Amino acid sequence: MLNIRVEKIQNPKPLPSQDNPLTFGTIFSDHMFIMDYEIGKGWIDPRIVPYGPLELDPSCMVFHYGQEMFEGLKAYRTEDNRILMFRPDKNIERANKTNERICIPTIDEDDFLQALKAIVKMDESWVPDKPGTSLYIRPFIIATDPFLGVRPSNTYKFIIILSPVGAYYPEGLNPVKIWIEDEYVRAVAGGLGEAKAGANYVASLKAQVKAHDEGYSQVLWLDGVERKYIEEVGAMNIFFKINGVVVTPQLNGSILPGVTRRSCIELCKSWGITVEERKISAEELFTAAEDGSLEEVWGTGTAAVISPVGHLRKGDQVVQIADGGIGSLSQKLYDTVTGIQLGKVEAPEGWIEEVI
Ligand code: COI
Repeated sequence: MLNIRVEKIQNPKPLPSQDNPLTFGTIFSDHMFIMDYEIGKGWIDPRIVPYGPLELDPSCMVFHYGQEMFEGLKAYRTEDNRILMFRPDKNIERANKTNERICIPTIDEDDFLQALKAIVKMDESWVPDKPGTSLYIRPFIIATDPFLGVRPSNTYKFIIILSPVGAYYPEGLNPVKIWIEDEYVRAVAGGLGEAKAGANYVASLKAQVKAHDEGYSQVLWLDGVERKYIEEVGAMNIFFKINGVVVTPQLNGSILPGVTRRSCIELCKSWGITVEERKISAEELFTAAEDGSLEEVWGTGTAAVISPVGHLRKGDQVVQIADGGIGSLSQKLYDTVTGIQLGKVEAPEGWIEEVI
């Protein structure tokens, strides 16, 4: 159990007007949670302080070798004004897997949950209530030893910041256009692909810029070895409905195990839909698109929720998925997942954590 010290902001910021779109990741609440790690002492000095700049030594290891992890989850305001978090235990579990992979000390799961609840409770007035909005929660850890040699740091900061958000993609629930990348690679098994580390995202930037220049929202990555099999989109996992069967790439060590991915698989199975977690090649996908058996494509992610995909392009090959609109299963998943998150649809056991 953490003994969290609280220093309240003197002049709270005005809450953002909900008449403007809450552009993803641009607005931050009044407070942040911080906890330090020192070797021999463990995680110490948990505190909630006003949101603001950090003072860090320029030689901090995170700046040089990128020893950093992050998570992303959301809090939602229900119609009866309760605040709910969606499956935070899964984010906490994944955070510690990432920590282990990149030599960051793990955090006690109960302490992590307590910290999440405490900071969300502190800034609960920042949880928006318009349809499609939520409070995005970004926990992260940085390596803070002032040292230029390559080794794991002996000191860290664990920080949680909060950002009221609307849709991740400017398209909202309208289908996005996805670029299948065949030049650059995001990750390979044995690397960092299944960890939620900033390093994976920097690896994705070059291809993302290329895709944007061509008018595509996001990059769909192929496996780094054979450059044949579909992996993930970077900001989301990917699903296909082919001949009535839901297919998603299996977790193979280079794909992020998404919480929304897992939830969609569990929901589809509970509805009696066959779900195959397996290798799927870009070639199989384009063949299915040509013969009409590719019925729907959608991405899943905390930020992106359920994001229908309307177009795919690989090199010169471009396909429109079905009529380019929102498929019925994508819509059902969106309605169910957001309904659960907003407390309108009964949640499977353990999916919802109320902030009280
Ligand atoms: C999330 O969905 O929470 C993510 O971390 C993706 C991020 C790139 C916005």
